[in-house]
Amino acid sequence: MRNEMIKLKSEHEIGLMREAGKILAEVHNRLSEIIEPGISTLEIDRRGEEWIREFGCIPSFLNYEGYPASICVSIDDEVVHGIPKENVILREGDIVSLDAGVIYQGYHSDAARTHAVGRISEENQRLIEVTRQSFFEGIKYAVAGNHLYDISAAIQKYVEKNGFSIVRDLVGHGIGSHLHEEPQIPNFKPRFRRGPLLKPGMTLAIEPMVNAGDWPVWFLDDDWTVVTQDGENSAHYENTIYIRPNGEPEILSL
Ligand code: MF3
Ligand code: CO
Repeated sequence: MRNEMIKLKSEHEIGLMREAGKILAEVHNRLSEIIEPGISTLEIDRRGEEWIREFGCIPSFLNYEGYPASICVSIDDEVVHGIPKENVILREGDIVSLDAGVIYQGYHSDAARTHAVGRISEENQRLIEVTRQSFFEGIKYAVAGNHLYDISAAIQKYVEKNGFSIVRDLVGHGIGSHLHEEPQIPNFKPRFRRGPLLKPGMTLAIEPMVNAGDWPVWFLDDDWTVVTQDGENSAHYENTIYIRPNGEPEILSL
């Protein structure tokens, strides 16, 4: 993949993406407070959409390639892209991943969090924490002059060291005036390649998806929901980041 195809953002564009990121962070904070046993996944989507619009944003996932909701809600062995439903109710002991994107004045942010529903097992707690921390291990390498797959390798290494596996069939992505821009960002190190050179002005959505068991996944017949093949749980953590003029990363969606 050639670097010239990655769009570098101006300070003005970054200002809009910062606002998009700040709003999305607040939406996630509010969503985290309504996660409890008994709530339906559709209710989560409704509340999320309401708050996104309240902030003057557009939910970017709604109708994206036909996706029917604003928030992806994925429970336990669902990896990503679960579709909210009135009759799907969170239960004590579940883990639930919420993925959301907003558009503010034409610019996108994209972020995901995984939450505990009530009291969860220690192993589930560890899965959530390792997934989150793998993102932070990755962005230590999100510095101008490094190569993209330095980030990928750091995420993979941390996850595997902790006995979990990284999903291979889904990746992170560039982001900006579109939800998905170049480059693709694997959370594992592709063999023999370092990936594009990281440069100031790049904006990236880095999103490790971590399985408690093995990495293979199925795509369900609803065309969206991704589940683990072995039925073990999966967690997701994502932020939109920016590489500053000084070469250092800034997290826009925290
Ligand atoms: N974070 C996910 C992604 O980057 C969310 C997309 S879900 C969709 O692909 F509904 F918009 F497709
Ligand atoms: Co994304």
